[in-house]
Amino acid sequence: MSDEPTDEPAREQTHRGMIPVRRAVCPGSFDPVTNGHLDIIGRAANLYDELVVAVFVNRSKSGLFTVDERIAMLEEVTADLPNVRVDSFRGLTVDYCKAHDIHVIIKGLRAVSDFDYELQMAQMNRGLAGVDTLFMPTNPEYSFLASSLVKDIAGWGGDVANLVPPTVLKRLIERTGGA
Ligand code: PNS
Repeated sequence: MSDEPTDEPAREQTHRGMIPVRRAVCPGSFDPVTNGHLDIIGRAANLYDELVVAVFVNRSKSGLFTVDERIAMLEEVTADLPNVRVDSFRGLTVDYCKAHDIHVIIKGLRAVSDFDYELQMAQMNRGLAGVDTLFMPTNPEYSFLASSLVKDIAGWGGDVANLVPPTVLKRLIERTGGA
């Protein structure tokens, strides 16, 4: 067997045999992860052999939780999804994809209002590095849900128990001092 590098995609043993691993990334701030994120993560994990949920440092948003805390919450709430891995990155999504042999970005779309910006990013990422983005419609039950709203409501003592997993709720209450 030659050790010469080839252009062939990596072939690994998967549940479908010796075929290329279908790997995707679900990038976001996840500050914190909500039930809406979790719905997208679970459905995307059904479509790929490996799904990486990556916490990206968004320079235009200040965080309530540190990146390590966000990772810990994501690991807790995806513990029952064996093909999901949690990671973090400071930099461009396409650079993360290149470094980890990932060709697909998964994004949840809540409403038409998400579409303009998401389309712009998808086309930019495709132009920068040939990485495609797949949009997944959010479950209508979560179409209004956003981490920013959850933080605001929790901070004023509002009830967000139906919007986030229990472990996130506990940390939100601890962090914001909400009721
Ligand atoms: O959960 P968010 O805050 O909507 O996620 C936004 C995120 C992290 C996906 C976006 O800001 C991003 O892709 N950041 C990485 C930096 C990058 O690649 N910027 C160029 C986008 S075309």
